[in-house]
Amino acid sequence: MTADPPGFLDKVRLDGRVAVVTGGGSGLGRASAHALAELGAHVVVTDRDEGAAQAVAEEIKHTGGKADASTMNVSYEDQIDTMIDAIAATHGRLDILVNSAGIGGYPGALDLERDIWDKVIGVNLSGTFLCARAAARHMIDRKSGAIVNIASILGLVGSVMGTNIAYQASKGGVVAMTRALALEWAEHNIRVNAVAPGYAATQLTEWLLSQDDKRAQIESHTPMGRLVEPDEVAAAVAFLAGDAASMVTGHTLPVDGGWVAG
Ligand SMILES: NC(=O)c1ccc[n+]([C@@H]2O[C@H](COP(=O)([O-])OP(=O)(O)OC[C@H]3O[C@@H](n4cnc5c(N)ncnc54)[C@H](O)[C@@H]3O)[C@@H](O)[C@H]2O)c1
Repeated sequence: MTADPPGFLDKVRLDGRVAVVTGGGSGLGRASAHALAELGAHVVVTDRDEGAAQAVAEEIKHTGGKADASTMNVSYEDQIDTMIDAIAATHGRLDILVNSAGIGGYPGALDLERDIWDKVIGVNLSGTFLCARAAARHMIDRKSGAIVNIASILGLVGSVMGTNIAYQASKGGVVAMTRALALEWAEHNIRVNAVAPGYAATQLTEWLLSQDDKRAQIESHTPMGRLVEPDEVAAAVAFLAGDAASMVTGHTLPVDGGWVAG
């Protein structure tokens, strides 16, 4: 007797799913939005930058995907709750959340002013939590959902590229929170995972990678000898968002060319 084909492609496809991507107007969020849409999801591209979110939604539609855009600043709890509720109401469901909104903040610990610390933790850690909480309230109703947080290698290991205490603390928090939320929401069939990218060329890293010596240092410290491409992060996000990862929860997957293994 022959077994039924496993249907692996169906487990990767996201047809009929509704996905929200925060920080989707640029960089890794933009790449993730494209990947989810290519796999069939309807993607709501959100960003604090309205024009950027709209531009990415238009790009997706031009390539035949389903998308729209919403302005959402993850620093504001009320705005998050209102926007996520509105998206779920409009589409009748919310299946996937990708938390990609993030900012840097690089002064050394002794020089770091409290307001920069609060801002970085506020966007990268609190913003990620508040979006996850708002989304999970809808996912619980359907007993199904996948949340993917964009952490960083700097949430897993220390920085060889100089200090950035608030950023590292925020990303370490995202890694710990990913585990905690996965355990809390497993009974509701909501999976929570994270991706920890190495250095990729985006708006966030432009100041660093435009310095030839810094870029060379990053490449030589990376076992695979090069920067991470945004679509390599997006591929991991798409895997974790779909049914191919149906028994994967609470984990942080480095996409780093071996950086963390070194
Ligand atoms: N680029 C890298 O090398 C790298 C490496 C590891 C992790 N990351 C993480 O990946 C995520 C995406 O970063 P990126 O490199 O794509 O940067 P990016 O600057 O290209 O994109 C970040 C997006 O987030 C948006 N954003 C910032 N603050 C926001 C807020 N308060 N509310 C809503 N949107 C907001 C920005 O407008 C921007 O569109 C971040 O969490 C970052 O920490 C990036």
